[in-house]
Amino acid sequence: MRIFVTGGAGYVGSHCVKRVVAAGHDVTVFDNLAHGHREAVDPKAELVEGELADGERLRSLLAPGRFDAVMHFAAYLNVGESVHKPLMYYRNNVANTINLLEAMHAADIRRIVFSSTCAVYGVPERLPITEDLPKNPINPYGATKLAMEWLLRDSAVAWGLGSVALRYFNASGAAEDGSIGQDYQPPVHLIPIVLQVALGQREQILVFGDDYPTPDGTCIRDYIHVDDLAEAHRLAVEAIEPGQAEAFNVGTGRGASVLEIIECARRITGHPIPAKIAPRRAGDPPSLFANAEQIAKRLGWAPRHGDVADVVASAWRWHSAHPDGYSAAAKKM
Ligand code: UFG
Repeated sequence: MRIFVTGGAGYVGSHCVKRVVAAGHDVTVFDNLAHGHREAVDPKAELVEGELADGERLRSLLAPGRFDAVMHFAAYLNVGESVHKPLMYYRNNVANTINLLEAMHAADIRRIVFSSTCAVYGVPERLPITEDLPKNPINPYGATKLAMEWLLRDSAVAWGLGSVALRYFNASGAAEDGSIGQDYQPPVHLIPIVLQVALGQREQILVFGDDYPTPDGTCIRDYIHVDDLAEAHRLAVEAIEPGQAEAFNVGTGRGASVLEIIECARRITGHPIPAKIAPRRAGDPPSLFANAEQIAKRLGWAPRHGDVADVVASAWRWHSAHPDGYSAAAKKM
């Protein structure tokens, strides 16, 4: 297939591009490089720099007959920032997705894999989370992702768009061959921040709340290896049925607490990683982990990295080899 990938220079996007290129597909990455990295794009893929806000450009790039499918990763993802700048999030995530879908409609491209999130569920009424639970996002980031799912659902009915929305839990880790990894500046996710402490770039990790209703009082999340996410995208893009809007959880089914992640990182890095308990962070649900049976049934997907130690170890291989991310490596070249 010829696949157009928005946000393909970002963290999850670049790992998925690598996977679909390895599976023999032709890929064009479209990215504004605001958070993405040129070096993260598989050399066999074409990189086109541009903005999704530019609907005219999208329509000319997606000229009829050029692409069979789209993978849509480009979006803002910082939950805290979304609370303070909701309109910026709705414009970038929702309005730009409308531009993309209009261009797809004009070119009659009826296949899209969409990067969704477990944040669409908000605080779930039961665990593990199944896809049928109510969607009540508790922050604008999650709300924009849910609105984007609605655009796909309604486009399926109106013009036969086929879509698979993959609701990721906590994307983590780095490519097994060490070629690419996570470089979001400044880091906002737990594992990269913990590893910054191990690298001596930060004095301590702040644990946001230890009074949650969980066994050790810290929040529980489902850390899914980015290579497992990439394989889910590969399977999804090859299985999309035009006219159907599907949505699947992508997680391991197992949760780990913040303190367990820190302990795991201490064992793997050999660094004491000082931790300090801090107040809760606004908008954090106590516990989130997936029931991923639906994607197993529909696409035959199963995570290969079920153990969180594997995930932390792979992140550590990347961060210790690239302590300053991609840019420093590029400067050395
Ligand atoms: N945490 C800390 N200290 C830190 C950073 C994080 O204690 O310095 C805690 C958080 O409070 C949370 C856990 O570690 O309990 C994981 O936090 P992350 O920020 O790594 O990830 P989230 O669980 O907040 O992920 C959310 C959504 C995802 C979404 C992601 C987008 O659950 O679906 O934000 O960035 F994709």
